[in-house]
Amino acid sequence: MLAKSLAGGLVVLALTMGAWAQDHAAPAPAAATPVASKPGSTMTPVQRVDSAAKGTLKNAYTDDNADIVAQGSKLYLQYSCNGCHGGNGGGGICPPLINDVWIYDGDDDTLFRLVTLGSVALQAKGYVRKGHENVVAPMPPFGTLIPTEDDLWKIMTFVRASFKGSPSRKYGNPPPTPEPTQE
Ligand code: HEC
Repeated sequence: MLAKSLAGGLVVLALTMGAWAQDHAAPAPAAATPVASKPGSTMTPVQRVDSAAKGTLKNAYTDDNADIVAQGSKLYLQYSCNGCHGGNGGGGICPPLINDVWIYDGDDDTLFRLVTLGSVALQAKGYVRKGHENVVAPMPPFGTLIPTEDDLWKIMTFVRASFKGSPSRKYGNPPPTPEPTQE
């Protein structure tokens, strides 16, 4: 009898500890796994942004694909990105796209959302400027001007191919270095 209730007590204890451990485990933020868009996708950039969880947008094209880079370069000019960012993305009246500084960040997901939504709508979603360039102005939304996400990914491939900064910064800001702990 005693043995039985002792055993029962242990089970309850074990279950309680298990629940405690689960509650106190470091909250694993649901890691957003990027999923590359299908080449040739005719979804609009706005539809893509609305249908994908934050952090999951990814370019299927890589900038070693000279044909896609050439198409992206044409589209970049066609949509007048050069009017603000310069012909090779080196900056003009607006920030450069090809240096170490990423304003919101430099990963595929953040850049695709910025160009699609523009700065004002992006900031309304909680994004803040982390990096500062010499020009501070809003980026207009292009999500309704560029008809397909495929075109925007090609433009982004051209932007990647034009990058002139340090290789470690090509796809985004490095994680912030932890503050030295005060003794
Ligand atoms: C009217 C001027 C203008 C046009 C046209 C324009 N942009 Fe921008 N763009 C900006 C500004 C201003 C910023 C900075 C936004 C901010 O600080 O919120 C920016 C930021 C960016 C960034 C992020 C740069 C960084 O360092 O983080 C990318 C990428 C970008 N634009 C791509 C494009 C593409 C691609 C096009 C064409 C489809 C384009 N832009 C057209 C003004 C423009």
